[in-house]
Amino acid sequence: MPFPIHRKRRLRVSEPMRRLVRETRLDPSQFILPLFTCPGEGVRREIGSMPGNFQLSIDELVKECEQARALGIGGVILFGIPEKKDEFASEAYADEGITQRAVRALKRGVPNLLVITDVCNCEYTSHGHCGKIVDGDVDNDATLAWLAEAALSHARAGADIVAPSDMMDGRVAAIRHSLDAHGFYKTPILSYAAKYASVFYGPFREAAESTPQFGDRRSYQMDPANGREAIAEMDLDLEEGADMLMVKPAMPYLDVIRAARERYHVPIGAYQVSGEFSMIVAAAQKGWLDLDRAMMESLISIRRAGADFMLTYFAKDAARALG
Ligand code: PBG
Repeated sequence: MPFPIHRKRRLRVSEPMRRLVRETRLDPSQFILPLFTCPGEGVRREIGSMPGNFQLSIDELVKECEQARALGIGGVILFGIPEKKDEFASEAYADEGITQRAVRALKRGVPNLLVITDVCNCEYTSHGHCGKIVDGDVDNDATLAWLAEAALSHARAGADIVAPSDMMDGRVAAIRHSLDAHGFYKTPILSYAAKYASVFYGPFREAAESTPQFGDRRSYQMDPANGREAIAEMDLDLEEGADMLMVKPAMPYLDVIRAARERYHVPIGAYQVSGEFSMIVAAAQKGWLDLDRAMMESLISIRRAGADFMLTYFAKDAARALG
């Protein structure tokens, strides 16, 4: 008998052959583009640590979203940079807050584009933490009221989905109750259920101006060493009424995405965060990686691990590459 009988290379012989047996595919509808919106008009300020990403005033945001829609991407997620921050994150839940105004402008100007809002306080507090500070720590239960108000104000403005990212205990239930009590029982919650205290958020904090002024987020975000705890977090969020779950960051946590895929029957999202994006772009700028291939390989790996959709700063470029 000749050796070897089995030759896996037979099915890799040409692109048409590889295409036939490809297990995982990417489609623009799977990409959600994160966008940062700020006060002013005609503002399009590039974020130094995230080349190709901008702080956009609402008029510019609308233009950016028209492009996103034309490329067929799944939607956008909004982060607001308020005029002024205070101890109580007042603008996070104000009907005239930056995010609320941005949502209204998008619903008017770019119909049929899915608009998700990030529900968190860190961009809105003077201290940069995700909630109310009591005795030097973020007070869980006091923060829930802010989050419930913020999610409600986003839903009122027309948000298609609200996505809490603060990691307070009980926030999904608090938000669900507040939405339902005000008639927004149709607004889904995408929970950042397994969100780690990650160094890879560094560039985002420059973009969103949300670096904590003291300490860090390890008393509320998860320890990167823990996988089982992620399952416990996701179980709780589903019990509390989450419609979809998210794992964040993505590439360093593919095992968690896979575990979630196997265990749950709800849609699973994964956030390829700012640091994951900026590492690839920086290496490409140095000529060490091919940008397009690194972008597509990173996204396919997240999809292969089991994510239904990806929040990614590559959304537009990847959609173009698939074009
Ligand atoms: C919190 C929030 C953060 C990110 C998304 N939502 C930052 C944080 O937890 O410090 C990070 C996203 C990224 O790095 O791209 N509002």
